[in-house]
Amino acid sequence: MTEYVPAQDRYEKMRYRRCGRSGLLLPVISLGLWHNFGNLTPFETQQAILRTAFDRGITHFDLANNYGPPYGEVERNFGRHMDADWHTHRNELVISTKAGYDMWPGPYGDHGSRKYLIASLDESLKRMRLSYVDIFYHHRPDPDTPLEETMGALDYIVRSGRALYVGISNYGPEETKRAARMLREMGTPLLIHQPSYSMLNRWIENGLTEVLREEKVGCIAFAPLQNGLLTGKYLSGIPADSRAARDARYLRPDAITEEKMRKVAALKKIADRRGQTLAQLALQWALRDGVVTSALIGASKPQQVTENAAAVQGPDLTEEDLAAIEAALAE
Ligand SMILES: NC(=O)c1ccc[n+]([C@@H]2O[C@H](COP(=O)([O-])OP(=O)(O)OC[C@H]3O[C@@H](n4cnc5c(N)ncnc54)[C@H](OP(=O)(O)O)[C@@H]3O)[C@@H](O)[C@H]2O)c1
Repeated sequence: MTEYVPAQDRYEKMRYRRCGRSGLLLPVISLGLWHNFGNLTPFETQQAILRTAFDRGITHFDLANNYGPPYGEVERNFGRHMDADWHTHRNELVISTKAGYDMWPGPYGDHGSRKYLIASLDESLKRMRLSYVDIFYHHRPDPDTPLEETMGALDYIVRSGRALYVGISNYGPEETKRAARMLREMGTPLLIHQPSYSMLNRWIENGLTEVLREEKVGCIAFAPLQNGLLTGKYLSGIPADSRAARDARYLRPDAITEEKMRKVAALKKIADRRGQTLAQLALQWALRDGVVTSALIGASKPQQVTENAAAVQGPDLTEEDLAAIEAALAE
């Protein structure tokens, strides 16, 4: 295995934004390991994707306890990558993981109890060969566990040194407000929210962004390319090496509708006019409002990371561009 020497100029290639009111800066493009880091992807491919990301100034890698396949395998592979490439760069990285979806059988391996969250993070740290994560998330709201218990567990996780910061994911506006206030009172501010957000999925504009602004909480938008739809790759069918072909569970062919493709084709024309790819336009758009700290992409090839990271060099979005995008989305 060749020794990894990161690009010297990596920090000149990326932009960093402050996460809410915290001291933490995040790259405007972050890399998620949900797909392509389990046991179906060669270690060398994973390594090339991670190295390419860091060489472009992407300092934030996002994981979860049950990313795989099988569950836990992405964290286990990440531990191997840590040993191979990242130990001497640990302080240059922001590593996150989560718990909140199903992880192990029985009543204690799912949802939002203190028992589940603390045990899960302990297992995650072992798999990743880390002594702490930078951000630990509750992955989804749990209507049956008192929010006080879940937020109390997050507070304890920080105080016990297992995580430096905490976040929540997939919470609605009201529960986000309550969570932020509870954590503030406990003395462990809510760093960040991780919701889905893209040109084709704008639910956060319906109240959540306002709460995040009011509470001064950061935001990392996941799936800003809508599983790859917003790259234009499905405009003339389903490529054999795409997510829709490989993993129809997560991008069902029937989700690639004619209506969406009409919008995508119109958006691609705007990207062409601006001299960039549709993926780059979609990422710039997701970041247009400062409330979004970072856009959290996935990648199956190093070249996708290179293309997506270059979104930061795109021309500023003008009022005219934004109006054209709204018109394309109304097609
Ligand atoms: N909190 C949550 O509940 C939650 C849920 C989902 C995801 N996430 C996080 O968000 C991250 C990103 O999610 P996502 O992977 O769905 O994001 P995405 O960026 O919307 O989609 C990524 C996929 O699009 C394709 N792609 C990316 N760039 C491309 C390019 N330039 N050209 C062509 N194709 C390109 C690749 O798939 P193919 O090449 O295989 O087609 C890639 O794997 C996850 O890894 C995870 O960390 C969190």
